[in-house]
Amino acid sequence: MYLVEDKRKVTTHRLFQMKQEGKKIAMLTAYDYTTAKIVDGAGMDIILVGDSASNVMAGNMTTLPITLDQMIYHAKAVVRATQRALVVCDMPFGTYQVNPTEGVTNAIRIMKESHCDALKLEGGVEIIDTVKKILDAGIPVCGHLGLTPQSINKFGTYTVRAREEAEAEKLVSDAHALEEVGCFAVVLEKIPAALAARVTSELKIPVIGIGAGGACDGQVLVVADMLGMSTDFSPKFLRRYADLNTIMTEAIGNYITDVKSGDFPNENEQY
Ligand code: KIV
Repeated sequence: MYLVEDKRKVTTHRLFQMKQEGKKIAMLTAYDYTTAKIVDGAGMDIILVGDSASNVMAGNMTTLPITLDQMIYHAKAVVRATQRALVVCDMPFGTYQVNPTEGVTNAIRIMKESHCDALKLEGGVEIIDTVKKILDAGIPVCGHLGLTPQSINKFGTYTVRAREEAEAEKLVSDAHALEEVGCFAVVLEKIPAALAARVTSELKIPVIGIGAGGACDGQVLVVADMLGMSTDFSPKFLRRYADLNTIMTEAIGNYITDVKSGDFPNENEQY
């Protein structure tokens, strides 16, 4: 079931048009077939196979441990479920930072094996040659600036980034550099709303925010967080649209009770 009228496959070109027409872009993560089918069916514009799978699916403290093979596994499952949304896959830590040749080799592998539509890389001018090489190979790239989780060990804190002028100015010039080489969008994570508003008005490509205020061209959240499956992560920017933790715990508890009491299965639930 699709909740939106427009069932055409979302493309990078459409996203660009949406910005020009002032239409907001909705983006959400998914890492598996079943969830992606629901997210796509609800009418999401972009599904991000985020490296947050490292935290959400595997229980790691950071996004750093997830591998290229694991990201491809998640992306394949999401692509199989998705008809309408543009599927963007994160390049995991260590697969694009060494040099542009290694970066483009790994980018091509993700595209060939997962059939996703585009890739997302964290960083600005430091990785610009790699971003350019990936774009030159015909692969659409989404940038990611601000609180870039793959650099969490360098930051040493999950606090808001770019409050200081020097970091803010670097972020603005990084965003322009990503646009100039041909990125189709940029994600801005956990930065002051006024700075995100400035970047959004200066760039022609869509700016998608997470903890970056309402002026961005679109918003992205982690699916498990916004559905209330996770309870141990409550940043100010997170709006919970459901309390699946309570719903699932109750349902699973009822199942346990029914099994233990012998109520499940009944005569209609057997052959
Ligand atoms: O991996 C992820 O989920 C992300 C979003 C937080 C933007 O990169």
